[in-house]
Amino acid sequence: MTRKTYGWGIVGCGVIAPNHAKSVLANGERAQLIGVCDVIGERAEKLAEQFGAELATTNLDELLGREDIDVISVCVPSGLHSEIIQRAAQAGKHVLSEKPLDITRQKMDAAIEATRQAGVKLGCVFQRRTSVFNQEVRRMIHEGELGRVLYADLSGKEYRAPEYYLTADWRGTIALDRGCLMNQGVHAMDLLLWLVGQPVVEVAGFWDHLARDIEAEDTIVGSLRFANGALGQVLFATSSSRKGLPGHIGIHGTEGNVILGGAQPLIERNGQDVDLSHLIAPRGTDAVTADQLAAPQGHDFHARDLIEAIDEDRDPFITGESARTAVDVILALYEASDTRSVVKLPTP
Ligand SMILES: NC(=O)c1ccc[n+]([C@@H]2O[C@H](COP(=O)([O-])OP(=O)(O)OC[C@H]3O[C@@H](n4cnc5c(N)ncnc54)[C@H](O)[C@@H]3O)[C@@H](O)[C@H]2O)c1
Repeated sequence: MTRKTYGWGIVGCGVIAPNHAKSVLANGERAQLIGVCDVIGERAEKLAEQFGAELATTNLDELLGREDIDVISVCVPSGLHSEIIQRAAQAGKHVLSEKPLDITRQKMDAAIEATRQAGVKLGCVFQRRTSVFNQEVRRMIHEGELGRVLYADLSGKEYRAPEYYLTADWRGTIALDRGCLMNQGVHAMDLLLWLVGQPVVEVAGFWDHLARDIEAEDTIVGSLRFANGALGQVLFATSSSRKGLPGHIGIHGTEGNVILGGAQPLIERNGQDVDLSHLIAPRGTDAVTADQLAAPQGHDFHARDLIEAIDEDRDPFITGESARTAVDVILALYEASDTRSVVKLPTP
């Protein structure tokens, strides 16, 4: 039986767009890059030329009007994701959205509702969940091999030079990006929440811009309380070290511990080390950080998964509802800091 080839379009042709173009090509006969769109015409033309797309346009309606396009990858600034998702859904296109789903609750609600109403799939990118190593760690936690989770923490000490915030005018703005936790740290926050598998019910915290001249945070600290009573702690900063320092995620249960980050991941169950090194994709380096545990072909995985989700009429690996959980917690941390209060999240 010949299987359908899905026509693909990309909206937003900046830094991350080539990953989506490559992931379309990686799916061989199942996917074809038909068109790309950017408000800056040269960017669209360059991406189209590089990856052999027939159409390069600055007009979104032209892209969405193509009947041979089935799927749209959303690679515009974070605060524009929902707008593009809604327009794609209204045009009957399935969507693969970059992280974060969007940066306000209302816009995330609207994106999820628009795809639901249109009956199209909404798949969301969080590459770290595609790693088989992380999936095995999650299985162990969810099947109770570490006992009851007592506490979990996340520390990210990365570095973004002042020039980074000048590479695009949306970076570091409250309207379109927010700061280090929403942009860089959302990957770690998503991984932490997905591994723990418990909803966060209360948060407190502080954010500030201590080192960079941006509207949003370059440093944030927070406390979390999970639905099962476990406690959590978050520290994320993108200005603290010129080299960037190793970050980590720790999850600690009554019967064992997981620490991702540092020189090697550490997994201990009932006092015994658990060796999952065979599940770590080789990266040509000795140090294995939480970042490197992301599957190297994460975007390929997400594109293939979306194709199969459409074929099989099932949910994508990461749905809109699942992708928004990290954003909801991050927004609650901002609110807690802004109002100097403990913020409750709705219990599902
Ligand atoms: N998954 C990951 O690891 C990863 C990595 C980097 C970026 N991202 C995400 O990808 C998104 C884009 O980030 P980036 O670094 O590529 O940004 P970028 O600024 O390099 O690219 C965004 C592009 O979108 C274009 N654009 C803006 N408004 C548009 C519109 N209305 N219609 C069409 N094009 C428009 C801009 O001209 C620009 O070329 C962000 O949400 C970011 O969080 C994800």
